[in-house]
Amino acid sequence: MSPEPTTLPADWWREAVFYQVYIRSFADGNGDGVGDLAGLRGRLTYLRDLGVDALWITPFYPSPMADHGYDVADPRDVEPVFGDLAEFDALLAEAHALGIRVTIDLVPNHSSHDHEWFQAALAAGPGSPERARYLFRDGRGPDGSEPPNNWPSVFGGPAWTRVPDGQWYLHIFAPEQPDLNFADPEVVADLEETMRFWLDRGVDGFRIDVAHGMAKPEGLPDMVPMEDTGLLDDHGPGDHRFDQDGVHVVHRRIRSVLEEYPGRMAVGEVWVSDDERLAQYLRPDELQLAFNFKLLTAEWTPTALRDAIVHSLAAVEGTPAPACWVLSNHDRPRHVTRYGGGELGTRRARAAALLQLALPGAAYLYNGDELGMPDVDLPDEALQDPIWFRSGGTERGRDACRIPVPWSGSEPPYGFSSRADTWLPMPEGWADLTAEAQAARPASMQSLYRAALAFRASSPAFGGEELTWLPAPDGCLAFRRPGGLVCLLNLSGTAVPLPEGTVLLASTDVEGGELPSDAAAWLVA
Ligand code: NOJ
Repeated sequence: MSPEPTTLPADWWREAVFYQVYIRSFADGNGDGVGDLAGLRGRLTYLRDLGVDALWITPFYPSPMADHGYDVADPRDVEPVFGDLAEFDALLAEAHALGIRVTIDLVPNHSSHDHEWFQAALAAGPGSPERARYLFRDGRGPDGSEPPNNWPSVFGGPAWTRVPDGQWYLHIFAPEQPDLNFADPEVVADLEETMRFWLDRGVDGFRIDVAHGMAKPEGLPDMVPMEDTGLLDDHGPGDHRFDQDGVHVVHRRIRSVLEEYPGRMAVGEVWVSDDERLAQYLRPDELQLAFNFKLLTAEWTPTALRDAIVHSLAAVEGTPAPACWVLSNHDRPRHVTRYGGGELGTRRARAAALLQLALPGAAYLYNGDELGMPDVDLPDEALQDPIWFRSGGTERGRDACRIPVPWSGSEPPYGFSSRADTWLPMPEGWADLTAEAQAARPASMQSLYRAALAFRASSPAFGGEELTWLPAPDGCLAFRRPGGLVCLLNLSGTAVPLPEGTVLLASTDVEGGELPSDAAAWLVA
């Protein structure tokens, strides 16, 4: 049992800065080229010094790694590649001692095909209670040789795979990730057992994978056909795979378990773009937070960014939840790259960091955001994402945003591992990007994040959850928080005068009283 950080309020997560640790890529402690819990333990003081409040660690459970851990064979143990339960307990205790909360991934929608339940379902045959834990159906067509409905898998191809006795099973993701049947009480009970297993060990909460999945409509009707299924994009009400009303029953169960453990929370990965539908996940007896992906999907234009903010705030208005801002994660191109890459992308990413961290609510950083890591184009033979294989090599998948974090030195693997052949190759030319090199440069991305997180944690200017838009020059956004913080973001293409006030922090040099384009500043009046 791990001691809890005791000094924070029960709703510590409302304004928290979470740091997403993509475990395979954060730090390798045992020299096998893959990141692990020991590696993370060794970097906890870095995270404390960076100023994050909490971690979200991506799945580290036993897994055949068809989807790099999101195919969970046993949700109540640790994959040997990542460590063991004792290592996890030690990590948790050390993080707590440093004042860092620890949240972990919960993957309810599907298991691995290696999970003992799925193996039992295959062995038990049609009509068995073992099959009832998953979504097995007979096929269509005279000999049942066509899938039961027209649903596509998010990773390409049909969402159904046929087993030797002729039945089909549903997998919204890879065939190695069979969907569980949440209408089966055993499935819900098992999820609760998993939650308690980790809550009893002392974790502070969960990030819930595909939190708009889980419930499937009665009869599994055909959906509106769509050419591009897109990775977890919201396709609206015609897409019966996601956002079914029944999912809220599951969220209420999840919340009722959390309520037994004061101060613990859950954030949902909810790819639902309609504000009102998203708000439903944030009712008082459901999730405490839901990622709002509007900032992550917004173009670098003042209109798109303002829209993203307005809608994100509208979604939480009338719910007990604060907004929850994300710029990057392990599923999408990194924002340095999205914003144009190179110097331009980095400059914009610095401004975006100040925008994200000035907004009211919780913020999630993805490991490497603080270093300004870009995506890396990998050669075909290095690609590992199931999307690459399932699409027959037409979609490159998500490996580009999952490159291991560069820590130190001038050559790959930059202190990430003692072994040169890391699970995804690291490029030449990253000597200036390493955490060590950036710690020494006051103008680095890392220094900007450290300063921003320090202000955010200590300055009364960040008080209050409201946001008031201020008049601003064309092409600029400006808003004020009740505590007095003013954030100005300039995308106008030319420098604009800074408003009255003292500059707390700026993403670029603002001497002369002007804010250049693709830059942001924090001021207090
Ligand atoms: C969302 C996760 O973020 C992604 O990485 C994963 O492939 C899918 N869920 C399936 O679990």
